Amino acid sequence: MVESLRNHVARISAVPIPALFAAEPDRLTRMSLPVPGFFADFSKHHIDQEGLSALMKLAGQRDVEGQRAALFSGAHVNFTEDRPALHMALRGPERCPAALGDEISAGRAAARAFAEGIRLGTIPASDGGRFTQILHLGIGGSDLGPRLLADMFGERGHGALGLRFCANADAGDFARAIDGLDPRRTLVFFVSKSFNTSETLLNAQSARAWLGTALPDAAIGDHFALASANIPAASAWGVRADRIFPFRAWVGGRYSVWSAGSLSIETAFGSTMFEEFLAGGAAMDAHFLDAPMPENAPVLAGLVEYWNAFGLNCATRCVAAYANGLARLPSFLQQLEMESLGKQVDRSGAAALAAPVVWGGEGTLVQHSFFQRLHQANDPVPLDIVAVARNPHGRPEHDYLSLAHALAQAEAFMLGRTEDQAASELRTAGFAPGEVMRLAPHLVCPGNRGSSFYLLDEMSPFALGAFVAFQEHKTFVLSVLMQVNAFDQYGVELGKNLALRTAASLRGAGDGAHDPSTTHLIARIRQARGE
Ligand code: F6P
Repeated sequence: MVESLRNHVARISAVPIPALFAAEPDRLTRMSLPVPGFFADFSKHHIDQEGLSALMKLAGQRDVEGQRAALFSGAHVNFTEDRPALHMALRGPERCPAALGDEISAGRAAARAFAEGIRLGTIPASDGGRFTQILHLGIGGSDLGPRLLADMFGERGHGALGLRFCANADAGDFARAIDGLDPRRTLVFFVSKSFNTSETLLNAQSARAWLGTALPDAAIGDHFALASANIPAASAWGVRADRIFPFRAWVGGRYSVWSAGSLSIETAFGSTMFEEFLAGGAAMDAHFLDAPMPENAPVLAGLVEYWNAFGLNCATRCVAAYANGLARLPSFLQQLEMESLGKQVDRSGAAALAAPVVWGGEGTLVQHSFFQRLHQANDPVPLDIVAVARNPHGRPEHDYLSLAHALAQAEAFMLGRTEDQAASELRTAGFAPGEVMRLAPHLVCPGNRGSSFYLLDEMSPFALGAFVAFQEHKTFVLSVLMQVNAFDQYGVELGKNLALRTAASLRGAGDGAHDPSTTHLIARIRQARGE
């Protein structure tokens, strides 16, 4: 626990959340607000006005407003790699360094022209016919954001081209991705910011070989396109110059959904939808930049999450997305938040606070899997509950049931069920007094589990863009409060480098110098594979 919060936590520990509504008549007004694309309600968290005021003071001490200005100014907020973080410029260059405007407009125009050319067939496949399928290759931020967009855009109807995704090194992922596809009708779009990710490079190599089963070598270039920040490596690999859509090093992988990394989605669903998504993000940028701190949703969310993690000591946070079109939101937020905040040291070099583990799933499915533990185990896990007021499927009964559960779960986590209430329910159900006494403790739900409720106006690209940008800015606010660098990811390099050695050993090459367990496992694998 952060020492400065200790007294605030002690004060509210005996005050259940519902009592806070009674004690603070303006609680709902102060802790919920409409923002572009959705309504954010933080009022069901276990924190009182005094605690929130203390956190707002901390935000001042950590200069959140100054760091926000630095972010948008293009200052090198990525202080370990000494570069800016300007993914926001891709959705609204007006609030970023003016020098970027032309470059971003040109990039937008090139993406729009490519997407339209593929959709209209004026950019044909090698045999002069139209492309009907896109195979998107990428992993991490080069996959999670595009897939989230594809799911959400797909809620509004089928795209003009089919979309398949392959991210993993596992051959089954590649096999399923190409199953039933015709190479002559397929555009392979791969995304790799570094152009140095083994999984994506292997999948691109396999895709090139797969195309070659039906196309002459000279034709393969027509069936590839790429988004990357490493143009020399992409060119050396053989991607044609007119099929390379660059993005800059100041767009982090987990922040690249706004970039040409999503061009396969824009191609399948059209630039209008993708630019609606960008507009939602830009509207949230304006809110983040212009709203006073007490009415600033990313700031409020950052403070509340800081409180839950480092005041109430909640080591994890659960995200429940009550919409099938947002089922991948928890996975997207896992990378965004855990790769941004899960760091070893802070900017001073001191041990960093342990960022919360983010996990979750799709509502209502989660109620039939792990919500039991969240309702009754003796440790609180704060939640994000994300729901959509208007779904585009024209089945209101489904919408009402989904929304009813989302609301009820948030209420249940807050209210819980006391032993007296449990006993009364058991008596009403006709249980004998002895049984009532025996069972009642087993039915208790402690409650006082805080949740943020995010109600998207509708299942729209604009609302999703605003919500994704909101989560990015909330993550940035948390990084400022934690004083860590939200934009590097040195931790992922270690495993990647070790994989080069284990790969060599699996093939019987390399120095074979591993620990006894790894050595034994390699031997078992080689034996099982008859090598
Ligand atoms: O997981 C590490 C990481 O670098 C992520 O940050 C990134 O989104 C992913 O790998 C893919 O990287 P690239 O787009 O460079 O292939």
